[in-house]
Amino acid sequence: MRDEQPNVARMWDYHLGGDRAGNADRRLADAVTAVCPELPLAARANRAFLGRVVRHLHGLGVRQFLDLGAGLPTDRNTHELVCGSRVVYVDIDPLAVLHNRIGVVGNPHATVVHADLRDPELVLRHRDVRHYIDFDRPVAVLALAVYHLVPDVEEPAAGVAAIYDHVPPGSYLALSHGSADDAPERAARVTDLYAGAGIPLRPRSRAEITTLFDRFTPVGPGLVAVDRWQPSASPGGAVTAGWYGGLGRKTG
Ligand SMILES: C[S@@+](CC[C@H](N)C(=O)[O-])C[C@H]1O[C@@H](n2cnc3c(N)ncnc32)[C@H](O)[C@@H]1O
Repeated sequence: MRDEQPNVARMWDYHLGGDRAGNADRRLADAVTAVCPELPLAARANRAFLGRVVRHLHGLGVRQFLDLGAGLPTDRNTHELVCGSRVVYVDIDPLAVLHNRIGVVGNPHATVVHADLRDPELVLRHRDVRHYIDFDRPVAVLALAVYHLVPDVEEPAAGVAAIYDHVPPGSYLALSHGSADDAPERAARVTDLYAGAGIPLRPRSRAEITTLFDRFTPVGPGLVAVDRWQPSASPGGAVTAGWYGGLGRKTG
């Protein structure tokens, strides 16, 4: 089974240098990397964005994190970046859920929920989410490198709207998303490769991704290439031109 059907969680792990991919995952990941050679670098830049944004939020006093589409655990996972904070990982993939559960064993502040973020009400009202996250206090919702795996035009907007309505003022949404803006032909080839493996992919334009933050107040530089979001050092070349990231705050 593991070698028959490529899987985005394991492919992402492979791009990040992990060892949990099977043959089919590696084949598709290699085919995609042949089209977009910068993808492994972009995956790492996306993780670095996660690290910066989570530390920034912790510095602002946020102590609750809901990590949607968390992926297979890799080094410096959210709960390791903000020790003592409440962290709930959510993923649709059973293997990602299993590995994250192993990663948080014995940690009273972190848990893992197996759920589909396309059903935001189910996620937000999930017993374990409500047990760990106090929705009367600010919470940071993280949706990194996941909404481009939701092809439906309406669902991402409906998802972030449900999040906005559910969280109290002072809460945050951090989001990163693949885009076709800089290289539409390459993005179309990647989308076709994914489609051939039964994996839906929907890169969105910067304008489309911006609308996901509609009701949130931008924090920092706004929606930018992920390695341009408050980099600790000059980011140099635009390795992540096709990857946007941003942070928004619910103010009202
Ligand atoms: C590309 S990985 C990103 C992982 C991590 N957020 C990161 O930025 O490194 C996408 C993850 O989202 C998960 N995913 C995809 N669709 C999902 C859905 N509808 N609900 C929950 N998780 C989903 C996949 O299983 C995978 O683990």
